[in-house]
Amino acid sequence: MSHPEVTSFTEIAEFYDDLMKPVPYRMWTSYYLLLLSMQGQKPKSVLDACCGTGTLTHMLTHEGLEVEGFDLSESMIRQARLKAERRKLPLRFEVANACTVDMGRQYDAALCFFDSFNNITDPQDLLKAFKRIAAHLPPGGSFIFDLNLAYAFEQKMFNQQDMSKSSKVRYRWRGDYDPRTCIIQVNMQFWVGEQHFTETHNQRAYEIEEVVDLLDEAGFQDIRVFESYTLNPPREKSDRVHFISIRG
Ligand SMILES: C[S@@+](CC[C@H](N)C(=O)[O-])C[C@H]1O[C@@H](n2cnc3c(N)ncnc32)[C@H](O)[C@@H]1O
Repeated sequence: MSHPEVTSFTEIAEFYDDLMKPVPYRMWTSYYLLLLSMQGQKPKSVLDACCGTGTLTHMLTHEGLEVEGFDLSESMIRQARLKAERRKLPLRFEVANACTVDMGRQYDAALCFFDSFNNITDPQDLLKAFKRIAAHLPPGGSFIFDLNLAYAFEQKMFNQQDMSKSSKVRYRWRGDYDPRTCIIQVNMQFWVGEQHFTETHNQRAYEIEEVVDLLDEAGFQDIRVFESYTLNPPREKSDRVHFISIRG
């Protein structure tokens, strides 16, 4: 199935893992396992929603979990599959939109990391995504995800660049945040060798209370929110938070 609406995470997919080398995925894996243990959960099977190139899928597989992933971007899924082939791991990755996904089975738990749900800029679509996640979990199943908050956009977290000649992927990003729509448009330029390409990413900043209400409407309960990578409540200046919840 093709997704003509996909305009982000396309050309960058091939270089995504190079670009993400500084991202502490190992710590994120440990943090995920810690959050699961706080919920008293010991899942065997996990759905990695908006899995990108599948880095967390792979790391959680190494932890002994049976993990499958999906992502809207065919290019990202291609990379996830190539990585699994290279490592001779029979991992399942599907191209799917979180708002309509149907993996044809249920999992003990679901996760969605690295502000992927901020890319869903309509709250009604986010509700649809939460309902689709709920449909993939049995009652009592864990759902854990993170989101960037408005503070991150106000602090211009997307204004980043690495133009160092020694970097394989050079980039210059500029974010334009509109507090009235709560949407940031990020214009991204990339250079790889002689190749130059651009992508535009849109993210919406959600209020924590708004997300809790949407989770509740989608049938989740025992909802708790932490400042990311801690067990502390969110602060006024938190840029990212993690939500943990249980399907009712
Ligand atoms: C920043 S990347 C994170 C990827 C991965 N979770 C990771 O930790 O590396 C965000 C991902 O969300 C995906 N995405 C955005 N909107 C989506 C949607 N509606 N359904 C499925 N995937 C989506 C993008 O294609 C992209 O791969």
